[in-house]
Amino acid sequence: MEYIIEKVISEEEIQKKVDELSKRIIEDYEGKSVLLVGLLRGSVMFLSDIARRIPEEKVNITMDFMDVSSYGNSMESSREIKINKDLEEEVAGRHILIIEDIVDTGRTLNEVKHILSLRKPASLKICTLLDKPERREVEIEVDYVGFKIPDFFVIGYGIDYAQRHRALPYIGKVVVK
Ligand code: IMP
Ligand code: MG
Repeated sequence: MEYIIEKVISEEEIQKKVDELSKRIIEDYEGKSVLLVGLLRGSVMFLSDIARRIPEEKVNITMDFMDVSSYGNSMESSREIKINKDLEEEVAGRHILIIEDIVDTGRTLNEVKHILSLRKPASLKICTLLDKPERREVEIEVDYVGFKIPDFFVIGYGIDYAQRHRALPYIGKVVVK
C-alpha cells in the first residue's frame, strides 16, 4: 500500500499537552505514590515524557508495562484480550494510572481496567494521548485525555503502522495514495 503522512498534531502541540496533563497528574497525586502502567508498545514515548515531568519530591513514580492484544475473530462482538506480558509489580493497595496511546473502540482499556480492578488497587485511572470517540463500542471512563481526534488512522510519537513510524516526534495521519 502506498501512502503519505500528513502531520495532524505537531511536536510543540504534543509537548504543550503533555505539560498540561502532567500538571493535572501532579495536582491529583501530590504526596502519593503512583504506579504508571504503560501499555506496550504505543504508549512508551508518552509515558516517558509524562514521567520526566513529575518531580520526585511531589509524586513518587513507579513504572511498569503490560502488553495485551485482542485475539480470536475480530468480527465477533465479544472479543477477548490476551495478556502477552503481564505486570511485574503488585497492584493491590496501590494507585494505578494506566497510560495508553489511543482509545479507539474502548475494548482494550475496558478489559485491562477490569483485569487490574480484580487485583484491588487503591485507585485506578486512565490517561490517553488520543481519543477517537466516534469509534467507541464500549463505554469507558477516561480521566485524562490529550486530544480528541476524528476517525482516521494515525502514526508517530510511539504509534505505528505495521511497526513503522513510532519514532516520529509528531502525530501524522496515514493517507492512502
Ligand atoms: P481499542 O480501543 O481496543 O479499539 O484499541 C486501541 C488500540 O488500537 C490502541 O492502543 C492502538 O494500539 C490501536 N489503534 C487504534 N487506532 C489506531 C491508529 O489510528 N493507529 C495505530 N494504532 C491504532
Ligand atoms: Mg495499543
